[in-house]
Amino acid sequence: MTEFILNDTVITTEVNNGVTLLDFIREHQHLKGTKIGCREGDCGACTVLVGTLTADNTLQYQSITSCISPLGNAHGKHIVSIEGINIPKSLTFPQQAMADNFATQCGFCTPGFVVSMTGFALQQNNSTTCNDAISGNICRCTGYKSIEKAGLRSKKSSLIKIKMIK
Ligand code: FES
Ligand code: FES
Repeated sequence: MTEFILNDTVITTEVNNGVTLLDFIREHQHLKGTKIGCREGDCGACTVLVGTLTADNTLQYQSITSCISPLGNAHGKHIVSIEGINIPKSLTFPQQAMADNFATQCGFCTPGFVVSMTGFALQQNNSTTCNDAISGNICRCTGYKSIEKAGLRSKKSSLIKIKMIK
C-alpha cells in the first residue's frame, strides 16, 4: 500500500510500487500534463515536485524526474504535478515569465521547465541559480535564451506567487 498526496488529492493505492511515478500519474491518475520524453532521467519532461515534511513541520520541495522514480518513493510525500501548480484564470510567476519571454514553442518541454522553476522558487534557502534548477530540462525548439531570461526573473523571489490547488 502506498499513501501520499498528489496535488490536492489523497492517494491510497495498491498499484505495484515499482511502477514509475510518471506512469502512475499519467496512466492511473490520467494527468497528462507531465510529459514522457526519454524515460531515462535525461530530458526533464517528466519533472514533478516532491514535498517532504521536515523536523520543523515545514514542507520542503525539490524537483525530480518521475520517469526514474518508483511509485513507492512517493509514500508519505506531497507530489505536485504541473496540474497542481495551475491557478484558475491566472498564471503563476514562472508561467507568466515563460509567456512574457516567448519561452515556449511546441510546448512539449514547457511543463517540465515550469515545474523546475517552481521548485526553485519554493526553495527557502536558495544557494543555486534558476539556470542550475533548469539544467536538467531539455528543449528542442527555443535555443534556451528565452527560457534563461524567464528563469532570471525567477530570482525576484518576492514577486513569486505559487499556489498549489486548494
Ligand atoms: S522522460 Fe526524460 S527525464 Fe523523464
Ligand atoms: S518548446 Fe518545443 S521542446 Fe521546448
